[in-house]
Amino acid sequence: MTSRTPLTVRVVKVVKETADAHSLVLEPADGSADKFRYKPGQFLTVRVPSEREGGSVARCYSLCSSPMRDDHLKVTVKRTADGYGSNWICDRVTEGDVLEVLRPAGTFTPDSLDEDLLLCAAGSGITPVMSILSSCLHAGTGSVTLLYANRDEQSVIFRDELAALCREYGERLTIVHWLESVQGLPTRTAIQALTRPYAGHRAFVCGPGPFMELTTEALTRVGLPADRMTLERFTSLTSDPFTAPESAPEPEGESGGPAGTVEVELDGDTRSLAWPRESRLLDVLLAAGLDAPYSCREGNCSACACVVVEGEAAMARNEVLDAADLADGLLLACQALPVSDRLRITYDG
Ligand SMILES: Cc1cc2nc3c(=O)[nH]c(=O)nc-3n(C[C@H](O)[C@H](O)[C@H](O)COP(=O)(O)OP(=O)(O)OC[C@H]3O[C@@H](n4cnc5c(N)ncnc54)[C@H](O)[C@@H]3O)c2cc1C
Ligand code: FES
Repeated sequence: MTSRTPLTVRVVKVVKETADAHSLVLEPADGSADKFRYKPGQFLTVRVPSEREGGSVARCYSLCSSPMRDDHLKVTVKRTADGYGSNWICDRVTEGDVLEVLRPAGTFTPDSLDEDLLLCAAGSGITPVMSILSSCLHAGTGSVTLLYANRDEQSVIFRDELAALCREYGERLTIVHWLESVQGLPTRTAIQALTRPYAGHRAFVCGPGPFMELTTEALTRVGLPADRMTLERFTSLTSDPFTAPESAPEPEGESGGPAGTVEVELDGDTRSLAWPRESRLLDVLLAAGLDAPYSCREGNCSACACVVVEGEAAMARNEVLDAADLADGLLLACQALPVSDRLRITYDG
């Protein structure tokens, strides 16, 4: 059994965004900048030391920086009441520290930066949305509308940054703030009224569970189709991908019949590999030395998602890809078993 060497990042700066949210500005610490290429809206998985949990736990944090606009990576961590990882990071991490992370991953990212976007965020849900918003404004041509809900004015993460973007991009950016202290909790009818003019846009939604449910229902009622709505759910990982062993693929013919083959496009290279019937695709890739992305390894997070170009595979578990993702050919490599004898997949699409 082996485990992979994680990547490392150095904390260049810690920014106190609000009373309970800290941003970490990061740079690759081990000369592996190419491993940190990311798309707007993707996340890093951070190793958080924990003696109680047998060494460490892993937590995902969205990159709020823009790959098109910012030189450094940035994540913003909001304290969760009684939470372990978020409080450890906010209490302990200081400038100069080195953190272990997994490479950026995730499917909460627009296909095009030129589409008109409706972004709905609440609380720390602004982090991936901020990356999408500033990337589209900076490198795309579409207009962006942000509905942003918070407890009160003091808890609005990126308040000044957003105001500066409004000044810079004028009519291309519309921000509707919803403050619970002033307007009470957002209601479905209020969200419907606010979002109705944007029902033809592509929507991205991120925030606490009740906000996501309310918003997706409101967007559905104003006629925004499910396949134009992308959601990001913030949950804590229950597994630790930093210590998870790489299970070796079953030898050919031992179980489930002879191996099929899979051609994999990753980081600009193409490799052809045997894919034993009982082995998960991610295990096959890692055992062959490929640097395939992953995080939870449990079908929960979409970090391992790739696209099936040819052939058919089945997933043992899928808690994250929706009908639109499946229609686009997305596949969770950590859960994928081969159905056809030959497959072609890509991570580079
Ligand atoms: C893709 C993705 C991106 C994310 N991006 C961000 C981001 O940009 N910023 C951000 O702040 N967060 C983000 N998150 C959430 C983040 O990963 C953590 O889930 C969050 O910080 C809470 O972690 P924690 O360790 O502090 O809390 P945890 O210790 O995991 O606790 C979470 C809650 O569960 C309760 N709890 C813990 N253990 C138990 C138990 N055994 N039984 C019952 N209840 C329990 C705690 O009381 C607490 O209320 C993201 C998550 C995902 C999946
Ligand atoms: S690694 Fe999380 S779904 Fe596969």
